[in-house]
Amino acid sequence: MSYINNHSQSVSPQVLTELPSHLLTNAEEIPAEYYCFTLYPKYLELRRQLENLEASGNPYFTVHEGLNKDTTIIAGQEFINYSSYNYLGMSGDPAVTKAAKEAIDRYGTSVSASRVASGERPLHWELERELADLIGTEDCIVYVGGHATNVTTIGHLLGQDDLIVHDELIHNSVLEGCKLSGAKQRSFRHNDWQKLDKILSIQRHRYKRVLVIIEGVYSMDGDIPDLSKFIEVKKRHKVFLMVDEAHSIGVLGKHGRGIGEYFGVDPTEVDLWMGTLSKSFASCGGYIAGCKALVEYLRHTAPGFVYSVGMSPPNAAAALAAIRVLKAEPERVGRLFERSKLFLELSRKQGLNTGMSQNTPIVPIIVGNSLQCIQLSKALSARGINVKPIIYPGVQDSAARLRFFINCNHTVEQIRFTVDTLVEELAKIQCNQLVIRN
Ligand SMILES: Cc1ncc(COP(=O)(O)O)c(C=O)c1O
Repeated sequence: MSYINNHSQSVSPQVLTELPSHLLTNAEEIPAEYYCFTLYPKYLELRRQLENLEASGNPYFTVHEGLNKDTTIIAGQEFINYSSYNYLGMSGDPAVTKAAKEAIDRYGTSVSASRVASGERPLHWELERELADLIGTEDCIVYVGGHATNVTTIGHLLGQDDLIVHDELIHNSVLEGCKLSGAKQRSFRHNDWQKLDKILSIQRHRYKRVLVIIEGVYSMDGDIPDLSKFIEVKKRHKVFLMVDEAHSIGVLGKHGRGIGEYFGVDPTEVDLWMGTLSKSFASCGGYIAGCKALVEYLRHTAPGFVYSVGMSPPNAAAALAAIRVLKAEPERVGRLFERSKLFLELSRKQGLNTGMSQNTPIVPIIVGNSLQCIQLSKALSARGINVKPIIYPGVQDSAARLRFFINCNHTVEQIRFTVDTLVEELAKIQCNQLVIRN
């Protein structure tokens, strides 16, 4: 088993003598940018971007002084808050907080070892059972980070003889996993299962394993892929299908069981259900749910699991409690849907550009200009509304947007006030822009 030797990637001394000659220059000839971070070209480029951002007041790294929920406190002032994916209000829920505190009292703040070694606690198994039951799979494995879950799972399962085909808007964690795997990588137009079908018709036979990756709700746009169609395509071409449910677990379906419940599909028709514990489940970490063989293989070989510490007791307990609260109170999901729908309907009625959002708790308001987007976020902040701009290079300048995360505790009044204020402040900014141009 690979965890017996954790230096399996080390380079043997002979390899060094075979390095290309341009790497064996005299020490004096090595440019300073190669060994000095203050001269690192990518750092210098970042500094230039930060200077531009700081000139107009950096809207990122805001310090929140309490719970990040429907409201938040920043610099002593209360805001209506749309910057948190605490969708079901589980972070700060008394039952979740109590469970985390009890876990600390019993197990401490860290398990202080990889689970393979001596980091295993009953909480880990209970959490994995509870997740597998929620999603409807045979088994589940939890990792300490959501991003790390994608990187290590994809990076580990696929290799040079394989192909990964993903939606063009897929999350960075998937892209990093693809790079790590060494597999051939292709993307298809957003949500376009017909295009995927074409790619597979031409390319499937050239590879051993093929993995198709989509999201349950897209994190920048709030839209939902047609899962049933993707399953049809996946079956026809004998490939694996992975769905990243970071923003759909706890959100979609009557009981918050995710996009599988939303479309009424058999959970075994998706090979890898990936999700994070940092959104609906008030914690930190990620999971892969699927068949026994997959989970057993990952549990014994996935580097990000085997060589990493086990999930901390308070994090495991918080996620476990949040899932149990969700099962006991599915009405939270219904309320989240109603609030998201209201925000979307009011925005559309007022002529705001909400892109592709589909009654999910992610509603982009597309401004189409990075500078105006920052101005709008500031103007809203001055009116007591906290929402973050997503600007170039995160998205194209023409797609610059404010991204509103709705949660089930937002009130109808908060949402009405927000949309009305948004319309007023956007009109002022656009009007000023016209005056400047003329
Ligand atoms: C689609 C998607 N996958 C994975 C992740 C990574 O999850 P985490 O933030 O829990 O590490 C995110 C984070 O927002 C995400 O949006």
